[in-house]
Amino acid sequence: MQTKALEFEQYDQLQDDACAQRILAAKQSLGKRAVILAHHYQRADVYRHADLTGDSLKLSFLAGQTDADYLVFCGVHFMAEVADMLSSPEQIAILPDMSAGCSMADMASLSKVERAWQELSEIFDPDEIITPVTYINSAADLKAFCGTHEGIVCTSSNAGKVLEWAFSQREKVLFFPDQHLGRWSGHQLGIPLEEMAVWNFDEPMGGLTPEQIKKAKILLWKGHCSVHQMFQPQHIIRFRNQHPDGIVISHPECSFEVCKLSDYVGSTEYIIKTIAAAKSGTRWLVGTELNLVSRITEEFKSQDKIVQFMSPMVCMCSTMARIDPQHLAWTLENLVNGNVVNQIRVPPEEAGLAKLALDRMLKIS
Ligand code: 13P
Ligand code: SF4
Repeated sequence: MQTKALEFEQYDQLQDDACAQRILAAKQSLGKRAVILAHHYQRADVYRHADLTGDSLKLSFLAGQTDADYLVFCGVHFMAEVADMLSSPEQIAILPDMSAGCSMADMASLSKVERAWQELSEIFDPDEIITPVTYINSAADLKAFCGTHEGIVCTSSNAGKVLEWAFSQREKVLFFPDQHLGRWSGHQLGIPLEEMAVWNFDEPMGGLTPEQIKKAKILLWKGHCSVHQMFQPQHIIRFRNQHPDGIVISHPECSFEVCKLSDYVGSTEYIIKTIAAAKSGTRWLVGTELNLVSRITEEFKSQDKIVQFMSPMVCMCSTMARIDPQHLAWTLENLVNGNVVNQIRVPPEEAGLAKLALDRMLKIS
């Protein structure tokens, strides 16, 4: 039964404890009709309510497999878009706060990528020469661009495999929006740094000469994650001086220098699994978002593992943190009342094209 939608203002001042109780009650009344998915960076007071958790790749698979009516996505906007595209048309994806975006995803827009493609066509036919690869941290219209131009999506856990596939199709790659993931993954495949050029989308021709473009195997979009750029080589050097037996693990959105100095580099899921599988008594320095590191610091204490955050600064995904218990309670109680708020709906034509690029990725993952 549908009633008038509840306004968020009624929830804004709600105390966290009261929110937690109301979330639990709403979940119970919705039963299997709603599933809460949460990314590993989600704040603890929301993460504790999740039914399914994971990195971007795992959450994409899970979104495609659940048969709940409502997929309440506690992550950022592009993740809820992926959930919408990979679930069936009757299922409804919801983002509890519409302002939970990804600042890296916002660094590439369809108009800027189309302009780059147009500029590249002055040198060669990009559709013949280049496979466009978009990191999953991008808007649906960029995934649709990759679908249209025989390109593909990647996540931080399959970027290497995806690049191999991309090079099996064409001789060059345009990688957007994260230059760091592109550079690290290219380096892992043995591509020399001199054959990777940064495409500065604010300058004509990406700020590159035709010779630089012809020489490049990978054109790296000049985007980055503001959270991961806070981790610096000196943080690792200081840790190694203090703890010569310590182990360093970083997310590939960190700079090339940080990845190079790390013992392990991988996605959020990889980071958790690697530390979980380590011997007790080990000490870890972790270069990724603070909510995740704080959670595993607590979790692995009982196994006598010391897990430290890489930066002395607070590096949180502040946009993901906008999904707070108040927004989650508001979303769920509206569903209990038969009202859908904050639905994420990718237009069908765009979703169809984006799915081509997503399905190529899922097939090789
Ligand atoms: P993962 O795919 O490793 O979860 O990373 C997503 C992300 O946005 C990291 O900043
Ligand atoms: Fe985007 Fe960075 Fe947040 Fe990941 S941590 S969702 S890349 S802003």
